[in-house]
Formats: sequence, C-alpha cells, structure tokens
Amino acid sequence: MAKTTISIIKCDVGSIAGHHVVPQELLDACRDVLARGRDEGTIVDFYVTNCGDDIELIMSHRRGEEDSKVHELAWEAFKAAAERAKEMHLYGAGQDILKTAFAGTVKGMGPGVAELEFEERPSEPIVVLMADKSSVGAWNMPLFRIFADPFCTAGLVIDPAMHDGFRFRVMDVIEGTYVELNCPEEMYDLLALIGDPHRYVIERVFRKRDGLPCAVTSTTVLSLIAGKYVGKDDPVALIRIQHGLPALGEVLEAFSFPHLVPGWMRGSHYGPLMPVSQRDAKCTRFDGPPRVVALGFQVRDATLIGPVDLFDDPAFDYARAIANQIANYMRAHGPFEPHRLPPDQLEYTTLPQLLERLKPRFKKLGK
Ligand code: 13P
Ligand code: 13P
Ligand code: MG
Ligand code: MG
Repeated sequence: MAKTTISIIKCDVGSIAGHHVVPQELLDACRDVLARGRDEGTIVDFYVTNCGDDIELIMSHRRGEEDSKVHELAWEAFKAAAERAKEMHLYGAGQDILKTAFAGTVKGMGPGVAELEFEERPSEPIVVLMADKSSVGAWNMPLFRIFADPFCTAGLVIDPAMHDGFRFRVMDVIEGTYVELNCPEEMYDLLALIGDPHRYVIERVFRKRDGLPCAVTSTTVLSLIAGKYVGKDDPVALIRIQHGLPALGEVLEAFSFPHLVPGWMRGSHYGPLMPVSQRDAKCTRFDGPPRVVALGFQVRDATLIGPVDLFDDPAFDYARAIANQIANYMRAHGPFEPHRLPPDQLEYTTLPQLLERLKPRFKKLGK
C-alpha cells in the first residue's frame, strides 16, 4: 500500500476587524481551489479551517512530503484567499504572503508547513494542533510532556510499545541545523536546548524502537524570512496517537497547563496558551490571550474522517480559568518585561525605530 502523507499548510492572509477571525469568504476561496486539486488527483482529501486569523489547509495525499504540486495547490489557495481579502479591504490582507512567484515549495515564502508521511496503521487516529497569537516553539513544552514526561503520559511507564521512549529532532532556527536526541537517556540534553524555544524548536518526534514517525511541527520563522515584523508565526503540529503512541487524552493532558508563550499583542508579549474550542479561537482581550485548538481525525486510505473539536469540553474549563488569571497577572505588568518580550525578540518589530530616535539624546556619564 502506498504511504499516506498529511500536509498542513497555514497562512494568515487577512481577517475581519484587526487580527481577529478569517471570514467564510476566504475559507470558501481556499475550498474551491483544493476541491479542484482533489478532482484533478493531486490530493485525495482535505479540510479547510481556521484558528483565529490563520487559515489551515489540512490535506491528505499519496505524493510524499515537500511535493511541489501539493505546495503549489496550497499556494494557489492562499493567493485566491488573499485576492478576496484585498477586494474586501480586510485587515492585513496578504499578511504572510511574502513572495510572489512560486518556485517549487511554499517553504520560505510565508506559509507554515507541517507534513508527515507514514504507512497507515489498521486504525490511524491523528490530532491537528493549531495556535493563534503564539509563535514557533510553543509546542516544545507540550511535546516534551506528551512524548517524554511520565507525569503526563502514563503509557511511557505502562505500555511496552512506548517504554523505550522517543527520539526528538530539534531545529536550531537561527543556524538552520538540527540535532536528534533520545529520551529518556538524553532528556537533560534535550531540555538544555528546548527550554529556549525562541531558538531551539522540536520539529519531529519518532518512536525510538522502530523509527515510526509520530509528530511534526511547523518551524518557519517569518521574522527571519522577512527581516521585519509581519505577524507572529502562529504554528501548527500533527501528532499520531494510540496503539503504541500517546493516547488522545495523554496528548490533550499536556494542555491542561496553560504555559506562557511569546505572541499576544503585536507579537510582543508573553501570555498563557489557552486551550479552546474552534468557535472560541477568537482573540479579543489585548488581541489574546493566545489560543490553541485541537482537531481529531481518523485517516482511512488517505481520506479524512472528522474532525472532532477536542478542547470543546468542560474538562478544560479549569485550564481556561487559570489562563484567564495568568492573563490578568501578566497584563498588570503593562509595558514592562517579562510581559513584554526581551529586546532580542522584539528586534523585528517597530520598537527599534523608536529606540533609534532616542540614540542621539544619550550623553556620556560625567560630561
Ligand atoms: P497596525 O499598526 O497596522 O494597526 O498594526 C498593529 C498590529 O496589530 C501589529 O500587528
Ligand atoms: P497575528 O500574528 O495572529 O497576525 O497577530 C498579530 C498581532 O499583531 C496581534 O496583535
Ligand atoms: Mg494577523
Ligand atoms: Mg494569527
């Protein structure tokens, strides 16, 4: 049986009333293009959705990762949606479309990409994670907890198929290099890196005993491509679950703690990542707080069955209440760190222009 590939390609091409939500018209524009791609046989199935102001194209196909036809299809979809956004004078129309001419891949052109090729198991459940007002690196802590922390994932202790642990591929997004580390034995080395999610980002996870691909994240850093602030790199991730992999509830458990992520207002503030249902992925207060949505699918012969909206559950009310408390506490710092991001993370925003204006007014001490 040919392998199946799930490609999640996402892009912010504009939204209503600021960086709030994608209107239906843009989702429809993407659906039209992907339906054409399905009818022509490029992809087998697709689901178009959004997390706040980011459009996510979830596509299943047989063409493998980094396939130029699949990427081109996604690019066409985003271009059609961006055109519509411009006609509608939407806010931030074309925000993440950084280049004009397609050249074989959407990587480096603005959209975020997470793709995983695998042999379908007899039953193939997956979880798609999507964040808004957040940034690449936001998945480091939850992925560590899901695949390496027995206090989150009981299967690491109980299930013989998981007991050997997992291998993490960590990208250095500044240097463009990666390293692979095995857990549990290299856990402290792994944490030494991924505790700095601004630079070191978990890109992939494999099961150690047989190399089974388990998870993938998007690692594009828009500011490094564009050299200026163009919105945060709201990331996506794909996780295969169950039967020798973390259970659905072990994946979701990692989000019961709303950890602090960079993003929120003007992409310049730390805030708690609040797990919400898709309909609540609408950032309001101070353009936030940051949100995460989890959609569950079954993959069958490269078709997608679902989704189910996984944080649409009162069991996550407590995490949301904590996130609101943390949001209040962080907001009370106003323009002060550590609510505001440290300078190295603000270097691609508009703040350096203001600091530049103050430079000539600095005088040497004692003169
Ligand atoms: P504007 O200056 O375009 O209002 O943008 C502020 C903002 O939301 C940063 O993305
Ligand atoms: P997005 O990265 O979601 O476009 O938000 C940008 C922003 O500036 C919010 O204040
Ligand atoms: Mg936006
Ligand atoms: Mg966004």
